Amino acid sequence: MRVIAIDGPAGAGKSTIAKRLASRVGLDYLDTGAMYRAITFKVLREGLDPAGSEVAAAALSASIEMDGVSVIVDGIDATAAIRSPDVTSQVSIVAANSQVREALRAQQRKWAERMGGGVLEGRDIGTVVFPDAVMKVFLTASPTVRAERRVAELGGDLKEIEAQIRLRDELDSSRSDSPLRHDDDYIFLDTTEMDIDEVVDQLHREYVKRTN
Ligand code: DC
Repeated sequence: MRVIAIDGPAGAGKSTIAKRLASRVGLDYLDTGAMYRAITFKVLREGLDPAGSEVAAAALSASIEMDGVSVIVDGIDATAAIRSPDVTSQVSIVAANSQVREALRAQQRKWAERMGGGVLEGRDIGTVVFPDAVMKVFLTASPTVRAERRVAELGGDLKEIEAQIRLRDELDSSRSDSPLRHDDDYIFLDTTEMDIDEVVDQLHREYVKRTN
């Protein structure tokens, strides 16, 4: 089973790069951040406290269907809602819950087994979910450039988005369960001054080296 792990902070270009790399190497793609967002959507919809004790049960009972385009949560199309400011501002709190993480990691491992491998993007894919991944990549860029990319894609106020990104970086990196980090076996890429094609080409070359 061949797994490529792509980790890094919000707005580093993970989704675009992971999708392109996946289609280039013929593997399926899974956005694990969308799964944490899906649970956050459910929690907010049910009026639960994102930091409360009922969140774990909500995660365990949630049905998340993802086909690479849409995200269906308990039968409700949440594709757009999981990207809303409400979900975005609460998702790091939900993602810090160990029981939520355990439930989602189990689903991520099952998905990869079913697909015979894949490209998974997130925060803990190479460190915790698939420590034996054939290739681990850590993508980052300066907070300002990451905010600019988000604004170009989704609109919004640059200063506000940059402040949110810095806050989310802090929460995702400082939580006790599988914080965002990278080890020596990662390919570390700062994409502040790189364009997407350059990054995908470089990662494709690295993948070919590792698998031939
Ligand atoms: O990649 P994203 O911005 O859609 O991720 C949403 C949140 O989910 C992010 O703030 C941290 C969390 N996350 C995580 O903790 N572990 C993952 N494997 C993926 C995302």
